[in-house]
Amino acid sequence: MKEELNILVQAQYPLIYLVTSEEERAEQAISTIAQSSKPQRRVYVWTVTHGIVEYGQPRNVTQHNTVSPEAAIEWISRQKEPGIFILKDLHPFIDAPATNRSLRDAIASFKGMQKNIILMSPMQQVPIELEKEVVVIDFSLPDMGDLNKVLTNHIEIYRGRRLTTEAREKLLRAALGLTKDEAEKVYRKAQVTTGRLTEDEVDIVLSEKKQLIRRNGILEYIEEDETIEAVGGLEELKKWLKQRSNAFTERAREYGLPQPKGMLILGVPGCGKSMIAKTTSRLWGLPLLRLDMGRVYDGSMVGRSEANLRNALKTAESISPAILFIDELDKSFSGSGGSGDSDGGTSNRIFGSFLTWMQEKKSPVFVMATANRVERLPGEFLRKGRFDEIFFVDLPTPEERQDIFTIHLSKRRGEITRFDLEQLAKMSDGFSGAEIEQAIVAAMYEAFAQEREFTQLDIIAALKATLPLSRTMQEQVTALRDWARQRARPAASSVAEYQRMEF
Ligand SMILES: Nc1ncnc2c1ncn2[C@@H]1O[C@H](COP(=O)(O)OP(=O)(O)OP(=O)(O)O)[C@@H](O)[C@H]1O
Ligand SMILES: [Mg+2]
Repeated sequence: MKEELNILVQAQYPLIYLVTSEEERAEQAISTIAQSSKPQRRVYVWTVTHGIVEYGQPRNVTQHNTVSPEAAIEWISRQKEPGIFILKDLHPFIDAPATNRSLRDAIASFKGMQKNIILMSPMQQVPIELEKEVVVIDFSLPDMGDLNKVLTNHIEIYRGRRLTTEAREKLLRAALGLTKDEAEKVYRKAQVTTGRLTEDEVDIVLSEKKQLIRRNGILEYIEEDETIEAVGGLEELKKWLKQRSNAFTERAREYGLPQPKGMLILGVPGCGKSMIAKTTSRLWGLPLLRLDMGRVYDGSMVGRSEANLRNALKTAESISPAILFIDELDKSFSGSGGSGDSDGGTSNRIFGSFLTWMQEKKSPVFVMATANRVERLPGEFLRKGRFDEIFFVDLPTPEERQDIFTIHLSKRRGEITRFDLEQLAKMSDGFSGAEIEQAIVAAMYEAFAQEREFTQLDIIAALKATLPLSRTMQEQVTALRDWARQRARPAASSVAEYQRMEF
């Protein structure tokens, strides 16, 4: 990203929009670029409180009367020397006609001069008039190299012990995804907690990071205790996932394999979609970050939602390799595609930025999305090539139901030979995994109330008392099946699929 910024500066792009909340680090990067330019450039920073001040100068050495955005832009236009002009937080003013116009005039006058304006702001807000002139780039979060400086600095301050290469790498990796300030804080916290910062403090750093990430409210670290074996059936899907266990390793790259991009799991409610997504994290040994789309939307300010999404994706990328879990994608993007202009087109824009990100992402972030209402999903999602694979999770076959009974009964009782699983599977035709689990729990409650052990008959009674979703929502389920049969890969094994058709 610094490289990209450097190229834009050298190529004399007059207007660059740098999205970041890390002003200090961004200014430093720009200053480095300015110094290494030929000829060297001076760097000026504008804020609405101090006007224009040369970078590195005290704030009272301000260029006179440049507090108003127009005056500042006018001053910039008058400069003859090569320079980079950073305008911090111009976004609240940028829609004002005078500001907007003067900015366009200014950049038009830059032709042939080594001058660039950099708009720096935590949120992206580009008025239509400027869309063609501006290049937007995201200032990425600190990488291992940047964090290494933070850590070295920390050790110097605290006169800490020398770290082994391994310990250092673990501490750095644990802080990936944080801003420089946050990383400093987290290292300090670990230091204060135990009086040192070594390999043993990695867990403190990690748990602090999880909290910080949770605090921004859009991404959530999910830890799942279950393994993939706790999911009954879905053999094809499991096989696919197991085959890719080492897909994000160096070895896979050397072998010439592309990094998996993502998968979409469609299916009937309660059949294990969310569950399998969560267990993949353990299977692959990668962190699972849940992106809460509902929280991305923020109507309080124009551009806020986009900024939220950007930040979340940026964090996910910096933690990568990681799995980005978007549960119930259909609910997140249902506003777009259709008539949905009710929210000022925000959901359309969010959807667009998400697709672009998916298309262009180079970092190893595997998107794992689930959905159950295909008709609500914008068609672009389903286009071939967007995801590596689209799986369809249908209601379990009799064999899969046996499997699910086995799993949930074994979870609760050590000894389950007293149950006739075949009969239970037969009696639970049309039940989802979740409904099977509920039937077992209901049977247990019944028996518990009567102060006895639960039996086969209790489960059968519970099954009979339940009207499964596949019957109450028969139409939807049938429609989904018909749709998916042609377009998605069945998650159950092909043998099971064959049985289902016979069934
Ligand atoms: N195949 C399965 N094997 C074992 N347990 C299952 C299975 N399917 C569902 N369950 C049980 O049902 C619960 C709910 O399943 P899950 O949340 O994964 O369903 P889902 O497909 O994501 O449903 P929804 O579409 O409603 O989000 C699980 O936590 C698990 O206990
Ligand atoms: Mg779910």
